[in-house]
Amino acid sequence: MPNDLQPALAMDLDARDGDWRPTPHGAFLGEVLAQHGEIVAGRDVLELGGGVGNHTIPLLRLGARSVVTTEILPDRSETTRRNVERNCPDAANVEYRVADWLDTEEQFDVVFANPPFAKSGMQNRRYFIDSLILDGHKRLREGGDLLFVQSSMADLRKTRTRLKENGYAVDILGSSEGPFRDYYFEDHAFMREMRHVEDGFEIRDGIYYETLSVVRATLTTWTPAMGAHLS
Ligand SMILES: C[S@@+](CC[C@H](N)C(=O)[O-])C[C@H]1O[C@@H](n2cnc3c(N)ncnc32)[C@H](O)[C@@H]1O
Repeated sequence: MPNDLQPALAMDLDARDGDWRPTPHGAFLGEVLAQHGEIVAGRDVLELGGGVGNHTIPLLRLGARSVVTTEILPDRSETTRRNVERNCPDAANVEYRVADWLDTEEQFDVVFANPPFAKSGMQNRRYFIDSLILDGHKRLREGGDLLFVQSSMADLRKTRTRLKENGYAVDILGSSEGPFRDYYFEDHAFMREMRHVEDGFEIRDGIYYETLSVVRATLTTWTPAMGAHLS
């Protein structure tokens, strides 16, 4: 980890059975977050799927005004809480919620996530990314940001197109190439699907590489036409 990022990213984490242990995706998202602390400083952040708190902790250290961090199960949310309380004992501006992705209350300045993809468990593997793109606006204030990481195998071109179609200005804050995780090769359906994603991965000297990108998508102002059906 570069020295200048250590104050935000140095932490002592524990995980129990069933917890998601940080992967290169989460590590890269954390580094890009630490390099762009201005996106969260002084803002209200909703973190989806906080896991072991590896981003909740930097979000707090980088000066978020408040952080609501969610998990799908109470035990996993307890893991987030335990790690945050150990690493940021004075943080009073953090709330832990059990919630199914965007199915929670309020609006925020930033919705932050490392969305499940390879192991999303959904027929549309991109489900959690697409859900952010389609329904993120329900949790965002005007001018708010989605901030998330995705693999080239989740089809970055599709993400850009869908974000633009849904009123977001898109900025790729950083990209990083790395070798496949071992479990990709064990999931034959995943490997079959990935072969159909244009620019999804590269093979060099027999080694498979994916590219991770951190996406910032800012919700632009838009007013529906008079008489439009409103939800
Ligand atoms: C890819 S992991 C990321 C964990 C952590 N944020 C990181 O980057 O290392 C996705 C996380 O989302 C959680 N999760 C899965 N389905 C979810 C859902 N429907 N709603 C909220 N969280 C969910 C998982 O328990 C897991 O901790």
